[in-house]
Amino acid sequence: MANNIKYFIGNWKMFGVPKSIKILNKVNNFVRLDKKNSRNYKVVITPPFTILEAFSRYYKKKSITIGAQNCYHKDNFGSYTGAISPYMIKVSGAKYVIIGHSDNRADGDTDKILREKISFALNNNLKIIYCIGENKIEKAKKKTFSVLKKQLLRVLTKKSNSNNTIVAYEPIWSIGTGKTPTSNDLEKTVAFIKRIFKNSKVLYGGSVDGSSVINFKSLDDLDGFLIGGASKSSKKFIDIIKNYYR
Ligand code: 13P
Repeated sequence: MANNIKYFIGNWKMFGVPKSIKILNKVNNFVRLDKKNSRNYKVVITPPFTILEAFSRYYKKKSITIGAQNCYHKDNFGSYTGAISPYMIKVSGAKYVIIGHSDNRADGDTDKILREKISFALNNNLKIIYCIGENKIEKAKKKTFSVLKKQLLRVLTKKSNSNNTIVAYEPIWSIGTGKTPTSNDLEKTVAFIKRIFKNSKVLYGGSVDGSSVINFKSLDDLDGFLIGGASKSSKKFIDIIKNYYR
């Protein structure tokens, strides 16, 4: 990964059916025609598993890249009803996988499970988007850095490095709430994460939209954004990129 590339990653969560490809075609066309800036950024979208393979194949040689939102903590095939292994994701054609999203931690993903997910995903040459972030109470108690440190040190494996893993800092209190950290706080947090996980790319996620993104433009060390709600609309998603480069 070249050092100054910015990432705009759209996490669709529980959204998307085959016809939602219309949204991505608009995003893909925007990136394709954005001659001025597109060499400076990368767009990744993570649709749900039901359309992962179709979208991965369709965008294989196009301007945007497809990833998965999660994976199971066992690999290959096995007797695990409803589970999708890192191997199955790799074969679907997806290039990235989000691991450790607070939605999945809330559903029971422990540090041990997350470590297994990362390990198997790396074995399959998937790039990891590893989510970390403190909740509202931890923030109020000024525990943000200690929480982030644990989330990094207990989960990232020996094989994790800045080429195969991007960290996404997503404070839980900011997800879907319209609240975002101040750019000063975010700058300090990004620097902290980069001290723990050397040379890593660090994204911010949580209520990123065309207006909040403007607050973070000046943060040179921030490597991009993980976008939830606003990634479900081509216009809102494109506005984020446009406003970032304006
Ligand atoms: P929102 O952008 O909807 O706050 O979601 C952020 C997120 O959880 C992305 O993974």
